[in-house]
Amino acid sequence: MDVADTTSMSTIPRTPAIVTRRDELRAAVAAAKRQGRSIGVVPTMGGLHAGHLSLVDAACRECDFTIVTIFVNPTQFAPGEDFEKYPRDLEADLRSLSVHPVNLVFAPADGEMYRPGHATYVEMGGLAKVWEGACRPTHFRGVATIVLKLLNMTAPDVAYFGQKDYQQSLLVRRMVDDLDLDVNIRVCPIVRDADGLALSSRNVYLGKDARRRALALSASLALAARLVEEGRRQADPIRAEIERLLSETPGVRVQYVAIVDPETMQEVDRISGRTLVAVAAVVDGTRLIDNRLIGDEAPAAGSLSPA
Ligand code: PAJ
Repeated sequence: MDVADTTSMSTIPRTPAIVTRRDELRAAVAAAKRQGRSIGVVPTMGGLHAGHLSLVDAACRECDFTIVTIFVNPTQFAPGEDFEKYPRDLEADLRSLSVHPVNLVFAPADGEMYRPGHATYVEMGGLAKVWEGACRPTHFRGVATIVLKLLNMTAPDVAYFGQKDYQQSLLVRRMVDDLDLDVNIRVCPIVRDADGLALSSRNVYLGKDARRRALALSASLALAARLVEEGRRQADPIRAEIERLLSETPGVRVQYVAIVDPETMQEVDRISGRTLVAVAAVVDGTRLIDNRLIGDEAPAAGSLSPA
């Protein structure tokens, strides 16, 4: 199959070329490079929704050859998390991608990414240990390892990530800088449903009531933005208001409310300039995260990528 030929910009639905083996992937990447095409990669775990597709659109707009990877990465799930039940529907994902001019989908077969004897992991300190890293101590090791492997396999000019997983995007930038990887990282805004809920593959776990309760996360971030617009600057009372809104919602268990410097994720006492508010909560058994940039220099919600 000459996957490098599937470049039609038509929006007529068509199934993108799919490869499941890394040697096929490497051959397709090499062919695209020989033709002088710039490569964009969008790493995902599938369960594709409009948030993922916004990254795909950006990649298709900005690069000549767009690769979407779909792999539910076991090493970023801890025992007892939702690895087994994570949504897997490759056909539905391919249908979603069929109206985007994606050149290649890499959906590795079982055993292709972690082969027998696999022993190498990317262990990050600092940023990887706080907030999400504190709640999920092995998570970022798995994320950094698989992202590095995917970057090595796809050799992209640009890799696309979402602000939805803000800390993940910061860590990927950190890793790229620390390990001198030759790739640009683009971070795209959070895509939300009309009522404010940030799109997430895990939203399918939410029943009707839980989905309504889950709106407390985005509502608490909107409250923080409003308080800051009204001139409030002290982080502690704003955090307390966010926690109150969340914990007064039945079925919502708060894990953290972070009011932090958007570059370092270190807590701030006063909100001056651009500040990140990030929340994590369990809603009727489903763990959800959301975040928003607020403060004087914050652009319209969700439109900024970490520097
Ligand atoms: P996944 O959760 O499938 O997300 C893939 C990408 O889509 C991530 O960069 C994520 O931030 C982005 N994304 C998810 N929801 C979004 C939304 N509502 N708006 C904008 N972007 C959104 O994140 C992962 O997979 C994995 O950790 C991965 C990087 C693929 C490594 O396994």
